[in-house]
Amino acid sequence: MTDLSTTLAGVKLNNPLVLASGVRGNNAGLLIRAAMEGAGAVTSKSCSLQPREGHPNPTMMQKGDFMLNAIGLSNPGVEDEIGEIKEAVAHAGVPVIASVYGGSAPDFEKTAEMIAQAKPAIIELDASCPNVHREGEMFSSSAQSASGLARAVKTRLKAQAKTASIPLFIKLAPNVPDIGQIALECQKAGADGITAINTMPAMWIDVRARKPVLANQYGGLSGPALLPIALRCVHAIRKKCSLPIIGGGGVNSGEDAAAMLMAGANAVSIGSAVYYRRNAFGEIRAELQEFMQEEGFARVSDIRLEE
Ligand SMILES: Cc1cc2nc3c(=O)[nH]c(=O)nc-3n(C[C@H](O)[C@H](O)[C@H](O)COP(=O)(O)O)c2cc1C
Repeated sequence: MTDLSTTLAGVKLNNPLVLASGVRGNNAGLLIRAAMEGAGAVTSKSCSLQPREGHPNPTMMQKGDFMLNAIGLSNPGVEDEIGEIKEAVAHAGVPVIASVYGGSAPDFEKTAEMIAQAKPAIIELDASCPNVHREGEMFSSSAQSASGLARAVKTRLKAQAKTASIPLFIKLAPNVPDIGQIALECQKAGADGITAINTMPAMWIDVRARKPVLANQYGGLSGPALLPIALRCVHAIRKKCSLPIIGGGGVNSGEDAAAMLMAGANAVSIGSAVYYRRNAFGEIRAELQEFMQEEGFARVSDIRLEE
């Protein structure tokens, strides 16, 4: 018998596959559908204090083993999102992770405080979106700014009895010199978990049109090509930080998910795989279970690198 369950900061998941933020949008119906397809938890697309239109089209492209996107965090704003999260919490049947984004620490604090009304199982701070500022400045760029953000939001949530117990995860970016140190400083600042990684800044050029393919010129790379980068990041985080990790980036099969768990993740996010595979959650879950049976792993937490 294999046991696929796992725990993230006290939140129990029946299997370790987590819908990554953004790939199914802000709508409750699509989050609920991912749960029905077999996700162990679902993450909403990041929402901000005010509605955001996002970037002009084209915002996405796919080529072979990678995708690029520069959606620009289009979302209806937190007021609308509270209703969507409430509906998802009521009907998904799995933990709902609410992702929030802000242009400043006070924006993040207010948005997290508001979304907490919907009682998500976890709040995730998107401190690492590469597409909002062209020059790539992100909260997760340095240990100081990432941990400052984690501390500010955690303090705000702890100030009220209703929100104090909601675990706070912070999502980190791969394009930094020492992601392990950033995660460690976030742990010291009071974060309850780490999500890693967000997309990798990239671009593609249509040489016949002599133009970048995305209207924003630059976008974030996701999909299978991202997996080796993500594994290295999660491994580096686990070396320094003892918080639970939702590890992801390029996971497209059960063996990819097993690799992510071996690198040190406690749960595995599934993003672009929903574009590559028709029944990504059902199939990847079955493949992971088969791998565990073949390799003699009884529990998800047993899947570790050899010492
Ligand atoms: C279309 C699209 C939209 C995304 N939107 C968000 C978002 O709003 N917030 C966020 O934290 N990550 C967002 N991401 C990043 C994913 O959550 C994930 O971290 C990234 O795609 C790498 O994982 P993958 O290779 O499994 O897709 C988005 C990714 C894609 C492809």
